[in-house]
Amino acid sequence: MSDTATLSRLFSSIETDLEIVDRTFQEHATSGLDILNAAAAHVLSSSGKRIRTALSLLSGRLIDYRFDKLLPLSVAFEMVHLATLVHDDIIDNATTRHGIPTVNTRYGNSVAILLGDYFFAKTAGLIADVQDFRVDRLFSETVASVCEGTIIELLSTRTLDFSIDAYLERISRKTACLMTACCKGGAIVCGGSDAQVALMEQYGHNLGMAFQIIDDVLDYSGSEMTIGKPAGNDLRQGLITLPLIYALQAEQNGHLDRVRRAIQQPAEHADDVKEIVAWVANGPAIHSAFDLARHYAARARAVLSEFASSPERRILEDLVDFVIERSH
Ligand code: IPE
Ligand code: IPE
Ligand code: MG
Ligand code: MG
Repeated sequence: MSDTATLSRLFSSIETDLEIVDRTFQEHATSGLDILNAAAAHVLSSSGKRIRTALSLLSGRLIDYRFDKLLPLSVAFEMVHLATLVHDDIIDNATTRHGIPTVNTRYGNSVAILLGDYFFAKTAGLIADVQDFRVDRLFSETVASVCEGTIIELLSTRTLDFSIDAYLERISRKTACLMTACCKGGAIVCGGSDAQVALMEQYGHNLGMAFQIIDDVLDYSGSEMTIGKPAGNDLRQGLITLPLIYALQAEQNGHLDRVRRAIQQPAEHADDVKEIVAWVANGPAIHSAFDLARHYAARARAVLSEFASSPERRILEDLVDFVIERSH
């Protein structure tokens, strides 16, 4: 089954609410300026998975469904996510996402920067509609963390940094943090106890860590057709992620010089990039990276077992499996 089909089956019980979230997103993303509208429509036309929206809604529903609060919260977090992706594609010089041109490719960097800023500005208004100071703080800390995570990543590019701790810290800030906030925020606005909020925070963190590790695995093992962007992108940007870290830890002979050349001058060493991607994708390191993702996934599942059985708990459990098994 394709990822899209799996997700639409998984989210069938919240489909109506997801549609309301989408409509509200579109209303808030609409500006009086045609160019911003066109760029926003371009982003929304691509097949995003809407995992952050679903996480916010399901985490609330696990406790006590207050859709009036969850609606602005989930729109805001999905919008922050898309804003970070629009900016990320500029930073990463990415030309395609979900198989279509990125905003920077289609409209140029200036419009892409301003569209991201516009989304960030709009989210502040949505968060105000939630009317909860704890969510204001959560939102501010989350966006700050994503920025820091992205800067830490930027500083580590083109360096031979293969510390696993540094990698985990980086992905925790740039990716897991936002999923954590969706889950924690959903629990907060639906009146969760401190213990329930803390559990959902742990679930979101572990799911987010597994999610980014799999994203980094797919950058080696996926094909352009399935992931919607060329494989080996991370290496071409000069970024060393978990699969390559494991491969280098196991065996550096002959490969370290090649990796150094590839991350420092990827354009001049396209053959090295190709060979490293094949070496990592076909070796044991890719399995070790999968194992670490599975370890975080198991932790996310274990957290859910603290909640009584419910349809929402079941979906959140299945979402853990999806994150590991997805192909893009
Ligand atoms: C992409 O996230 C960015 C990462 C954190 C790796 P998604 O893969 O969830 O992006 P969409 O929402 O489907 O576009
Ligand atoms: C995801 O980073 C963007 C943020 C979390 C800010 P990546 O650069 O790893 O994601 P993709 O692979 O472009 O989706
Ligand atoms: Mg990127
Ligand atoms: Mg990036």
